[in-house]
Amino acid sequence: MSNLKKEILSLLDRAQFISGQNIADTLGVSRTSVWKSIKSLKEEGYSIESVTNKGYHLKSPPAYVNPTALSMRISQSSLFDRVVYFKTTPSTQKEAFIMLSESDDSFVVFAEEQTKGRGRFDRHWDSPGRTGVYLSLVLRPNIPVSEIIRFNLFVSLAIAKSIDEAFGVESGIKWPNDIYIQGRKVCGFLTEVVSESGVINAIICGIGINVFKDDTLRKIPTAISIEETAGGTEHMDMDLFMKVFMDNIEVYYNRFLNEPFSRIRDDWIEKSIVFGRQLRITEPGGMFFGRALDITDDGFLEVLDEDGNIRKVVSADIEL
Ligand code: BTN
Repeated sequence: MSNLKKEILSLLDRAQFISGQNIADTLGVSRTSVWKSIKSLKEEGYSIESVTNKGYHLKSPPAYVNPTALSMRISQSSLFDRVVYFKTTPSTQKEAFIMLSESDDSFVVFAEEQTKGRGRFDRHWDSPGRTGVYLSLVLRPNIPVSEIIRFNLFVSLAIAKSIDEAFGVESGIKWPNDIYIQGRKVCGFLTEVVSESGVINAIICGIGINVFKDDTLRKIPTAISIEETAGGTEHMDMDLFMKVFMDNIEVYYNRFLNEPFSRIRDDWIEKSIVFGRQLRITEPGGMFFGRALDITDDGFLEVLDEDGNIRKVVSADIEL
């Protein structure tokens, strides 16, 4: 986004109404440049109305994530160097894998739609256009691969808190990689790594959030959209969500790098929905039923199985 558009947005944001002349004078540019930039902002989805004798007014926030606002957000981030925005792509995770070998920076790949979204265990992830948030975060910590389980704990808390804060709902974490509301899934994430000799070269964390209701989603009985749980779109501001989300990712990623899990343990347990209930746990080695008792500092779930044994679960598919 050009600096001029950013500055115009920031002026519009601060004033109820502001005239084209006032914007031009404040920013030291011509009226024509202001007009062109406003036209281009409108094309990007900003709802800017022009009222005679009053000037321009920034109406409701765009219903979907605005690429310009997102790139502005990322340019202020100390974690990410850039965002790559797609209207449609097979999978942001796939794109991220291709791009990470072309540079050594940290970045975000965002898509409005994915035609081949991929979930955990190679499942399909439905990603209809402008219905959810589909993104992959590429991060470059210089740490052992074994730390990735702990990474998931910090990220799950960041996502759950962001959903609650921005949409006024109450979400819960279903260990290890899901966020639920009202007993149904609103978000899943997938953490993959590229490593060398046991040390991470890149974390690729793909996050899919069901934001708006959609026919595809309605067919999945275990899934739900945030819209349905928030009681409509009236108070759903996607740019606010992206701001809160990127801020929380930054905060919790830095905490992950500098703090043990024990520092967020109480918060995490409070948001977790797996404790005290019967679970069906599918591990690579097989399936069993059990009750989650605790979470260890390395992120292993301690489960009491039906034979009375305590098992440590590392990575599994859990059904409530
Ligand atoms: C799961 O619950 O199984 C994880 C789902 C992860 C989906 C996201 S959407 C963005 C990124 N791109 C993909 O193809 N998958 C992840």
